Amino acid sequence: MSLTLEEISTGTGHERVVLCRDPEAGYRGIIAVHSTAAGTAVGGTRYWRYDREEDALTDALRLSRGMTYKNLMAGLPLGGGKSVILRGAEDREAVFRAHGRAIERLDGLYITAEDVGTSPAEMEIIRQETRHVAGLLGDPSPDTARGVLRAMAAAAFHRWGTDDLAGRTVAIQGCGNVGFHLAQGLAAAGARLIVADVDPGRVQRTVGVTGAHAVEPSEILSVEADVFAPCALGGILSEETIPRLRVEIVAGAANNQLWEEADGRRLSERGILYAPDYLANAGGVIGGCREILGWSEEESRRRIDGIYDTLLDVLRLARAEGLPPHAAADRLAEERLATLQAERRQR
Ligand code: NAI
Repeated sequence: MSLTLEEISTGTGHERVVLCRDPEAGYRGIIAVHSTAAGTAVGGTRYWRYDREEDALTDALRLSRGMTYKNLMAGLPLGGGKSVILRGAEDREAVFRAHGRAIERLDGLYITAEDVGTSPAEMEIIRQETRHVAGLLGDPSPDTARGVLRAMAAAAFHRWGTDDLAGRTVAIQGCGNVGFHLAQGLAAAGARLIVADVDPGRVQRTVGVTGAHAVEPSEILSVEADVFAPCALGGILSEETIPRLRVEIVAGAANNQLWEEADGRRLSERGILYAPDYLANAGGVIGGCREILGWSEEESRRRIDGIYDTLLDVLRLARAEGLPPHAAADRLAEERLATLQAERRQR
């Protein structure tokens, strides 16, 4: 086999960034370990068609840092990492086996799991080469949906002084794995639902089970509701879309909901309370600790429910400091990271 690993220095504060190549397997990947201050770095493998290798590197650096913040704010004894594989016309099996060998060479510094473009099937292939892989125990989306529901309740409490969602209207964009489970949880809590998806079958399933009202995908952003729950795409909150929102809270599962930093401020200026995405959608990674850390069902559920208190802390800090919630969350994560790094230096 012709696997090579090249360490690169990016000047971004990442502990290790490795360019991985195996020409025989048609494999080009990047593994970015942002921080192991809290524990082994955990984060998924993204399999994506990038125009340029620099774009893949930028993605790996940004996503791995995001995992550090997410894991820290979820209170997990895990660090943050991420890997990306540049997708081409290659043999999938050979590529994921090569990726597994690259992860194995890091000797347990990084554990991978599913991400965009990968599924349990790819994790099974990786597992043939390394045991540092999770995401084999099944669908994380019920855990993610449970966490989003807790985040929504906390945001409701902060906003309205009650976390009872009965009678509130929630607009859900995307009735996929998370959106569907979230809709069920909200229906059980007595909320009224408006849903949209580009896939009519998924809309039908959600309407059938929850009695939701369906609208066109182009309308979901501007329907009048109490809460907007983005559960489809990233980058959905932008200079163009924020003025169209007619809700008081945004809380959903999608990753990287803000198109750019300034959008957090734009939401605040419109008086819309934003539950930072990486807090709201941490249920999946917390649930993954059953597999990674051997947590019981009960422990992981208790921790997922803890998203409620974490978000309240962040929203209170945001209010006290006059910050948009996403900035307050980043600040808390950075403080926690700095404390851990200082402790590590003293050891
Ligand atoms: P999914 O792929 O099962 O569902 C996404 C749904 O959005 C699909 O049904 C798709 O047809 C729909 N969609 C795509 N474009 C749309 C549009 N323009 N308007 C309306 N609907 C549209 O994905 P899943 O697993 O439900 O995840 C949803 C989001 O949450 C993603 O951004 C994902 O990265 C994020 N997330 C998911 C986690 C999980 O446990 N599944 C964990 C953390 C984040």
